[in-house]
This record gives sequence, structure tokens and C-alpha cells, in this order.
Amino acid sequence: MENNMKQHVQQLLEKRDLPDEGLVQLIESEQADAFLFPAANGVRRRIYGDAVYIRGLIEFTNYCKNNCYYCGIRRDNGKAVRYRLRTEEILECCKEGYALGYRTFVLQGGEDPYFTDERICRIVSSIRERYPDCAITLSIGEKPKDSYRAYFQAGANRYLLRHETANEIHYSRLHPAEMLSKNRKRCLYDLKEIGYQVGAGFMVGSPFQTTEHLVEDLRFLQALSPDMVGIGPYLRHQDTPFCPYENGSLERTLRLISILRLMLPHALIPATTALGTIHPEGREMGLKAGANVVMPNLSPVSVRKLYSLYDDKICTGEESAQCRGCLEKRVERAGCRIVTDIGNVRR
Ligand code: 5AD
Ligand code: FES
Repeated sequence: MENNMKQHVQQLLEKRDLPDEGLVQLIESEQADAFLFPAANGVRRRIYGDAVYIRGLIEFTNYCKNNCYYCGIRRDNGKAVRYRLRTEEILECCKEGYALGYRTFVLQGGEDPYFTDERICRIVSSIRERYPDCAITLSIGEKPKDSYRAYFQAGANRYLLRHETANEIHYSRLHPAEMLSKNRKRCLYDLKEIGYQVGAGFMVGSPFQTTEHLVEDLRFLQALSPDMVGIGPYLRHQDTPFCPYENGSLERTLRLISILRLMLPHALIPATTALGTIHPEGREMGLKAGANVVMPNLSPVSVRKLYSLYDDKICTGEESAQCRGCLEKRVERAGCRIVTDIGNVRR
């Protein structure tokens, strides 16, 4: 068995690919870790050295018209206290972030109808005007292609939209009937066509997920070839229909980070907040398993608790006003170093 795992990892290293059966075994087996983690860490090191990129996350609205069964800010969660940041507040986050060395701002929010295309474009252009040397990333869900085009023309460069699960049937068990896997995938291809750098991704251990579904996620990502892949364990939220289901597994998430690093050696792979939530050193472990991005929270501390996708989210207390400092230490503990330049931004 152990020998088998070694061979699978070797094949992934050499060919960046592996037949489905091999992937299933790697994902399911603890014995893979001793080969998988060092191999992925080595590839990360060969391509990126000790560099870890930072992206400043601004959670600007927790209103959402969607009703995903797993998510704490779903429409039907009447217990969620809703907020929206004003443009001036968003710009204030950018200003603080810029002073701290951030050169990428990620505007993330629920699908909030208040933020019409016009409003989004106005926010993007005001950031663009003030920070011509920064990348602007949007993460605001599924939109028509024309809207994506308008944001791009206003100055946005990147877009994050997790595909959540590549399997259509599994997708339909995580979302109400009005949400379709094929629309989501269509959005990702639209974004790429327009010229965005694109981030996709999925949850590990979401309810009803099988190892075969995860293999489908890997195949989908191979075909899409995104610039970034964000993955994290599924975590329960007490006020969602999925509240009875168990959290995803830390180990499985780390294994998938490593497999992704070997399959898509150049990809940007964040050590996510969900990973830091499931284990106090989850993000350090993620980096050691091949991740190379961290996304500290730049949102005003006063709203951080309200952007609650799952229970016990980290970085929500007063002590976390400066995630930058905290993460710097964590990145160093993982043997890496934060770099502040934006890398190759396509315009
Ligand atoms: N657990 C883990 N991740 C979640 N997300 C949403 N809800 C949860 C949850 N309960 C992830 C989704 C979404 C991203 C912004 O957060 O993958 O795309
Ligand atoms: Fe936010 Fe550590 S990264 S408190």
C-alpha cells in the first residue's frame, strides 16, 4: 500500500496527472501524506521559492439573495444581522490595507441586489483611480456576462467564484433548485474569456460528497485551468439546514491542497480562513502542504462577526484588527515569507 502511494505521488510529480483510481487512493489514505506533503511543498518551493502572497479581504455586504443550504448568510437565515459598507468605508479599508503593504483588494459579498452593476462599477473605478498599482478582485457571485464585462472595464482584474462541486447532482443537493451547476461553470468560462484572472474552488467534506465527486472537482479544474483554487473544509453553521452535518476533515483538505499543487504547479492556492478555523494551525499546515496565498481580513472589526458563513470563524475579535502581523508570524513558522508585490496582473 505504502509503495503504491509513493508511486502515485511520483507519477503526479512527473506527469501532473494520475488515473482516477490513483487519485481516490491518495485522497482516502493517511499513508499518502508522508510522500504527498513534502512533494507538494517541494514543487511550491521550486516555482515560488519561499514567497507567500497576501490578498486583503474586504467583506462589504452580507445581504444575499441566494439560499445555499450550507451558508450562514443565506437569504432565509433570519437570525443573521445584515450590513452593507458605504463606499467611503470600503475606500478606508483599502487605505489602511495599502499602508500595511497590501497590493490586492478582494471585494467579497453576498449576491446583494442593492449593489447594482452601476454601483459596483463606481466602487471599482474609485479604487482603481486611487490605486493604479493594485489588483482589484471581485467575489460577488453569478452575474450575466455583460455585467462581468462592465466591472472589468471599470478596472477589476480578478474574480473569485468557487464552483463548490463539479458534480451536477451533488450541486443540486447543496443548493435550491434555482441554482444550477452549469450556470456557475458558465460564469467561470465567461470570466476567463473576458480576461479576468479567475479563481475557482470547492468545499471539502460538504454533505453528501464522495471521493469520486472530489476527483470530478480535480478534473473540472484541470479543464478550466484557473489562476487560483480556493478550497477549505465544510464547516457547520448553526442556523442553516445543514447544521446537523459534521465538519469536513482537516487532513483531507490538506491532501487536496497537495494534489492540486502537483496537478497545477503554478496555481495560486490560498491557506483559507476555513482551514484556520478548523485547526489553530490550519493555515500553517496548508502552506506546508503546498498553499502559497493568505487572505487576511481588512473588513472593519465592527462587522467581521456578522460575515459569518460558518460557526467560530477566526479573525473576528478586537485582537485581530491587524491580521497582517499575525499572519506574518504564521507564514514564517511555515518556513515562508510574505511578499507584497502584486505579481503579473493582466489588464
Ligand atoms: N463552510 C465552509 N465554507 C463555506 N462557504 C460558504 N459556506 C461555508 C461553510 N458553511 C464557502 C463557499 C463560498 C465561499 C465564499 O465560502 O465555498 O464560495
Ligand atoms: Fe487574523 Fe490571525 S490572521 S487574527
